[in-house]
Amino acid sequence: MTFTEPQPTPLALLLLGHGSDANSEKGVTCPGDLPAPSDPDLVQRAAAAKAALGDRVFILGHHYQRDEVIEFADVTGDSFKLAQQAAAHPEAEFIVFEGVHFMAESADILTADHQQVVLPDLAAGCSMADMASIGQVEECWAVLEDLGIANVTVPITYMNSTAAIKAFTGRHGGSVCTSSNAERSLAWAFERGEKVLFLPDQHLGRNTAVRDLGLSLADCVVYNPRRPRGGLTDEQLRGARVILWQGHCSVHGRFTPECVDEVRERVPGIRVIVHPECSYEVVSKADVVGSTEKIIATIAAAEPGSAWAVGTELNLVKRLAQQHPDKEIVYLDRTVCFCSTMNRIDLPHLVWALESLVDGTVPNRITVDPETAHWARVALDRMLALPGPTASRD
Ligand code: 13P
Ligand code: SF4
Repeated sequence: MTFTEPQPTPLALLLLGHGSDANSEKGVTCPGDLPAPSDPDLVQRAAAAKAALGDRVFILGHHYQRDEVIEFADVTGDSFKLAQQAAAHPEAEFIVFEGVHFMAESADILTADHQQVVLPDLAAGCSMADMASIGQVEECWAVLEDLGIANVTVPITYMNSTAAIKAFTGRHGGSVCTSSNAERSLAWAFERGEKVLFLPDQHLGRNTAVRDLGLSLADCVVYNPRRPRGGLTDEQLRGARVILWQGHCSVHGRFTPECVDEVRERVPGIRVIVHPECSYEVVSKADVVGSTEKIIATIAAAEPGSAWAVGTELNLVKRLAQQHPDKEIVYLDRTVCFCSTMNRIDLPHLVWALESLVDGTVPNRITVDPETAHWARVALDRMLALPGPTASRD
């Protein structure tokens, strides 16, 4: 029997923190000397470095970040709010992003030239963003051009995508969206074209098209970038209203409809609230669907004694349970865990990043080249110009 050495795919997973792949979001070794995680002075060191930097630094923290770093955030939010906040602090010389790579890229695009964006660990990427490369998206667009339907198709990309893909949507008359404004973005796109190419999260695209805009499941097709012409026939592509990219979140993709049945059986009367990155089947069984900001607001406003099963990332669910001891808050599925890349940003990396800034070095700066930044900004500005978040997703 002959043995063939397995060949890595272009998006093969690297061991986090080992090696690097400049074309993807993951796997970059930290270039500096990290403090030991066991250092008892880490909290005091982070506080001292932040105080020494004063107004020169502004720290943005996504809701999925660990408590140990969220404690030092000047503002916390979902990806929409953090994009707005990045743009709203021109006084800060340094924006330190407690989040993942695509968020830091968007912050660099939305901030002024004198501001520098720092991601404390470059291995904090996003597996969903890695499911769509710009080459694959351009290939897909060429197929639509070949069929004569590109001119009636508006591309919408979820914030969770590379700057190059945001720039692609900007160049082709499209917009960015987040989980808090996907309905508005999709409606905006249908005012401008007959079809939407939705990148890269098929679940957010399907949930929004079917549940919010009233399209049918049959109006949606899934384009598989690893198959010739997406694995779809010309008729399927011509007939679709929404062409969904075959991407998903590896955390939210793990919740199943059975998790919902099981928790309802275990805790009678419990309400289920999930993020729209969950599958259509899961979202259809939930009581409330919304972005991280909406999940937080719903639970804060819920009556004492109410019980909630939450289908989103574990750091946020744990924090909600701690903040609302008067409510019963459980995780929708006990086998689903943290987002491993969000969790890369820990206290040693934050201390290292802040102390480097105090010492006059800018570590792990995230930059986007001017041409890409220009067109990505066009797409981001179209999103930011939409009327406020809709009731169903805010
Ligand atoms: P929001 O911050 O838009 O709720 O998205 C969640 C997410 O998965 C970010 O990576
Ligand atoms: Fe990406 Fe999902 Fe992690 Fe968000 S939670 S960073 S979408 S893998």
